[in-house]
Amino acid sequence: MTDVQTRTDADPQPERAGSTSTRRVVLLSAGALGAGAVLTACGTDTSGTNPNGTDFDSNPVPAGSTGAQADSAGGNAGTVLVAASEVAVGGGVIKGDYVITQPEEGTFKAFSKICTHQGCPVTEVNDGSILCKCHNSAFSIKDGAPTAGPAAKPLAETKVQLDGDNVVAA
Ligand code: FES
Repeated sequence: MTDVQTRTDADPQPERAGSTSTRRVVLLSAGALGAGAVLTACGTDTSGTNPNGTDFDSNPVPAGSTGAQADSAGGNAGTVLVAASEVAVGGGVIKGDYVITQPEEGTFKAFSKICTHQGCPVTEVNDGSILCKCHNSAFSIKDGAPTAGPAAKPLAETKVQLDGDNVVAA
C-alpha cells in the first residue's frame, strides 16, 4: 500500500515564507527555456522539418509538389521545367519548386528550391549563387553545394536535359 501524506490547515506551510523566491525561480527557469528555444530556432542545426512538416533532409521537396523531381522518381521524365531561353548563362531562375541554372552555355542543372538548412525556399540566383535569405546560405549553381551560411548539405538535384527549346526532367 502506498503511503499518502495529507495536509491539514493546522500543518505548518513553510513554502509560504519562500513563495516569492520560488515563483522567481520558476519564472527565471521558464525564461531560460524560452531563450534556449529561440537560440535553437536560429542556430545552425541542419536537421528538422520543412514548413510542410516533412523531414527535408530525406525529402527536400515540399509535400504535394509537382515537377521534375517527383516526376523523375515516378518515371514521368519529359516534364517541362522552363524554356531554355529563360535561363541566363552563369545564372538561373526559380520556377515552381525548382531552381534551374545554366552554369555554362548549354549545360543545365535543376535543384530543389528548399534550403537544406531549415527548409525555407531559396529566393534568388545572383552572381553564380543560389541564395536563401532566411539565414543567408548560398549554394553553387554548378552542383548545389553550400558555399556560405549555415547550410551544410547541397540542394537536392534533379536530372534534366534539353528537349528542343525546353529544359525537361530526364
Ligand atoms: S533556411 Fe536557414 S539559410 Fe536557408
